[in-house]
Amino acid sequence: MKKQKLLIVDDDEDLRTQMKWALVQDYKVLLAEDRPSAAAVMRKEKPAVVTLDLGLPPLPAGVEEGFAVLDEILNEYGQTKVIIITGRGEKENALRAVEKGAYDFFYKPIQIDELKVVLRRAFQLSQLEREQRALQQRLSGDTFEGMLGTCGKMQEVFSVIRKVATTDAPVLIMGESGTGKELVARAMHRLSVRQENPFIVINCGAIPENLLESELFGHEKGAFTGAHIQRKGRFEMAEGGTLFLDEIGELPTLLQVKLLRFLQERVIERVGGREQIKVDTRVVAATNRDLKDAMKEGSFREDLYFRLGVILMSLPPLREREGDVILLAKAFLERYADENRKKIKGFNHQAIEAIEQYAWPGNVRELENRIKRAVIMAEGVKITPADLEMGAPRPKSRYENMGLKEAREALENELLAKAIARSGGNLSRAVTELGISRPTLYDLMEKFGMPKE
Ligand SMILES: Nc1ncnc2c1ncn2[C@@H]1O[C@H](COP(=O)(O)OP(=O)(O)OP(=O)(O)O)[C@@H](O)[C@H]1O
Ligand SMILES: [Mg+2]
Repeated sequence: MKKQKLLIVDDDEDLRTQMKWALVQDYKVLLAEDRPSAAAVMRKEKPAVVTLDLGLPPLPAGVEEGFAVLDEILNEYGQTKVIIITGRGEKENALRAVEKGAYDFFYKPIQIDELKVVLRRAFQLSQLEREQRALQQRLSGDTFEGMLGTCGKMQEVFSVIRKVATTDAPVLIMGESGTGKELVARAMHRLSVRQENPFIVINCGAIPENLLESELFGHEKGAFTGAHIQRKGRFEMAEGGTLFLDEIGELPTLLQVKLLRFLQERVIERVGGREQIKVDTRVVAATNRDLKDAMKEGSFREDLYFRLGVILMSLPPLREREGDVILLAKAFLERYADENRKKIKGFNHQAIEAIEQYAWPGNVRELENRIKRAVIMAEGVKITPADLEMGAPRPKSRYENMGLKEAREALENELLAKAIARSGGNLSRAVTELGISRPTLYDLMEKFGMPKE
């Protein structure tokens, strides 16, 4: 299992370090010393559990800054379990925090063993709640417009979709291939007032350049050889509805100008025509390329980028959606087992591990395709890694989710603790075994907050 994330918010550096080393074996420990740094870690990492010291700078003697952090976390990340760390004389504050929605409180000075029990319970609860949500989603078919996702990042995506569906502003959806860009565009359409009108898709990368202009904007009779009749383009077909421009990065420069003009003035011109035609369509575009690079190369217009990306959405790759891979895998398995009338009871243990470990470069689409195929190929009642055309999972190292520095220190900590335990309190033995000097040993013990007795 991947280590779960724990954020420690405390302005006391020694305490932070001490807690970190006591907990780093069990959790991915993140640190913050004040409100802004806590907010930054929350945004980036979305830890499941937070310990929060109420007295934070600039008012370390008061509790208001701590309460402000608590409010922010509860408002924006309602599923996070917050454990308040407070002095013994401050029971009132602790209770007030719990009333507001903190999960629990804990008195200083911190007894690490007790804290570990509280943390374990908090993580268990968080995990249970997540599983509960996942199960509910799966059983009730309760997806968000056909999309599954219980992780924080996808919940955020859903909330943005809800918000922008009610506006007419253009949207630019960015995301690796197979992350669900088209599903998102369809969801925006279905949730908007345009839902009764057409949703029209065009893949700018799949149509030859010389045909694309008339596909998009239509043409008049006689506009070019073969144009026997007048034809409406996709813009006009999407009247009142939504036009989804997929692979917008592939749009040729000439057409970028025409699109820009539409976004500014809401009119188009058919190929070979002079009439300005007013069109009411909402544009949603998608790209799996970094348009910033394309702009640097000069193949994508900057002014168009800013017009299109009034609302920018980026879809997280599957490997960053904590907990969702298995949820999706099970949902696809059910769907395709039903479709193929096969009695498959799930994934075997190795398959689950292989699915969790794989990086999924093709994202949800790749997962779906592998499972579709596995259901057809499977001979047993449980899907195996071989059915999925995946190798057996490799054994995990507890260091693999760490940076080099963190891993080195965690290993130091581990070896040190083991050597000291084996030495039965005889530090000379530990010194010999580890091949370091006594002062170094003392330094390390202090660094990792180990008692000197
Ligand atoms: N969150 C999700 N829940 C369920 N199914 C999903 C989800 N995201 C994507 N899918 C499924 O994965 C497949 C790929 O999705 P979609 O076509 O929207 O991705 P895309 O980002 O447009 O991919 P590409 O860049 O390859 O065009 C579809 O079959 C879609 O139904
Ligand atoms: Mg697509």
